[in-house]
Amino acid sequence: MLKKRKLLVTAFLITGVTAAVAAVNLTKERNLKVLPKDISDQKLDSIMQTYNIALGVKCSFCHVPLKNIPDSLDYVSDAEPMKETARKMMLMTIHINKTNFYFDSTKRPEYLNVVTCKTCHRGEPFPPEN
Ligand code: HEC
Ligand code: HEC
Repeated sequence: MLKKRKLLVTAFLITGVTAAVAAVNLTKERNLKVLPKDISDQKLDSIMQTYNIALGVKCSFCHVPLKNIPDSLDYVSDAEPMKETARKMMLMTIHINKTNFYFDSTKRPEYLNVVTCKTCHRGEPFPPEN
């Protein structure tokens, strides 16, 4: 009797732990602090592609590799300081658009594209002076 109970408790603990791990994995898929948290994968990807083009870099400019897995990137990690620099640039760009070109308050300023990264960067990580 006692043994059976112990088994049950163990089974419960294991399921509980599995559920917790799954939840962590789910929330770990995204680490968005500037872009809307409910952004679609497609929209997120197309925004990231514009960063590559605007700065003339690859995704690895802002995203570190996954440990032990060659040719992969850990997009969620903030280990590459350039990612935080990019966040500041994103906030600045949103601010420029919001304060100068944001006339429709029903739209999200994060998606306004009057001034973009490319406006200043023109294909370089450090914007050319002329
Ligand atoms: C100039 C820097 C930069 C480049 C280049 C870049 N990213 Fe990002 N990426 C970011 C930043 C900053 C965030 C987090 C945005 C936020 O906090 O809202 C992010 C977030 C992401 C996320 C979501 C993970 C998370 O942090 O929540 C994915 C997936 C992603 N990037 C993929 C890519 C891919 C694929 C490429 C290449 C096509 C790429 N990125 C190129 C800066 C960059
Ligand atoms: C108004 C002009 C302007 C806009 C718009 C702009 N940037 Fe920048 N960015 C700069 C300047 C100028 C620098 C160099 C800053 C410095 O020397 O401190 C820079 C530097 C950076 C750097 C650091 C580069 C390095 O090698 O250290 C990153 C990353 C970056 N920008 C990403 C972005 C992203 C992503 C966007 C769009 C969301 C963006 N920037 C929009 C002007 C701009």
